[in-house]
Amino acid sequence: ISLKSFNTLRLSASADAFAEFHSVGELLALYGWAASHKLPIKVIGGGSNVLLTSDVNALVLRSAMRTVSVLRETAEHRIVSVDAGVNWHEWVCKSIDFGSGLENLAFIPGTVGAAPVQNIGAYGVEVSDCLEAVVGFCLSTAQLRMFSADECRFAYRDSVFKQELRGDFIILRVLFRLRKQFSPVLSYGPVAQWAEGREVTPQALIDEIVSIRSSKLPDPDTVPNAGSFFKNPVVCEEVAADLRLRYPDIPEYPQSDGSVKLAAGWLIERSGWKGRWSGNAGMHKDQALVLVTNGKAEYDDLQRLVGQVQKDVKCEFGIQLEPEPQPF
Ligand code: EPU
Repeated sequence: ISLKSFNTLRLSASADAFAEFHSVGELLALYGWAASHKLPIKVIGGGSNVLLTSDVNALVLRSAMRTVSVLRETAEHRIVSVDAGVNWHEWVCKSIDFGSGLENLAFIPGTVGAAPVQNIGAYGVEVSDCLEAVVGFCLSTAQLRMFSADECRFAYRDSVFKQELRGDFIILRVLFRLRKQFSPVLSYGPVAQWAEGREVTPQALIDEIVSIRSSKLPDPDTVPNAGSFFKNPVVCEEVAADLRLRYPDIPEYPQSDGSVKLAAGWLIERSGWKGRWSGNAGMHKDQALVLVTNGKAEYDDLQRLVGQVQKDVKCEFGIQLEPEPQPF
């Protein structure tokens, strides 16, 4: 089965088998089927954060479970359970009926199940800020398991699901902790400007985030891409100070541990790659951090471009950029 339509970079690769599950019972049946055919299992969500590097010798599964239910309430919060198969943006739009916290994460492609894996983040909020627990199925032990937010070991675009549990855990449900009181995060420059002197409502904030994202980020349905292709590099203060001397306008985001996060998009733009292509793939003209293709690119095309961008950024700034999407 071709996976081309299942990944937003539209890389062509095939899988031995593919199935969707609508219940835990169906998942267990598929687990048994895969074992009897000696096939490993791999899980895909919206396909917006995966790199199909070659054909996939596995049974590829996708959750088609889409229930949303309130589990419990405290004086300040509502805990809502959301199945992994729910579309992320649809959930964010619905979430404001239950409580506040996810507005800034509107319009991110993908599914609810994929969100904790790389701890999606945007405009001053990360999903870990509103996450209570993650429930899933562990492939090696064939058992259901729940991870508290602490156990998920969230960091910038990172979690236990991307590290030790990589390939061994199927996220089935995510429990969100939403605030009953609306307390918007308005720290990000363009959001702060927009919010100045107006009454911010949850819906208006979502609409503004959608508008900011649409103005810079290409729609994966028309232009194949996987969002930010590189992580923003985090460097120590000495390195940042040296760069500041050479490039006084370099954007910097000081971190609580004294390190400094730099803007990979800025480094790429200053290396001459904004809007520049190499064969079938290029760096986006409005946001240099986003790798885009013409729909004909194969993994080799991407690798070539990634290598060229990494080399030029390293040469100009001495910084090694790390890809963000995960090899499937
Ligand atoms: N910049 C440039 N040129 C560019 C792009 C950016 O100079 O081509 C500069 C901007 O002017 C700004 C700074 O770089 O000063 C940061 O840019 P931006 O606010 O667009 O955010 P980003 O750091 O490039 C990150 C996330 C995005 C998220 C935005 C907003 C990562 C890898 N990316 O991008 O997440 O939407 O912040 O919070 O952390 C994603 O992960 O797929 C993603 C889109």
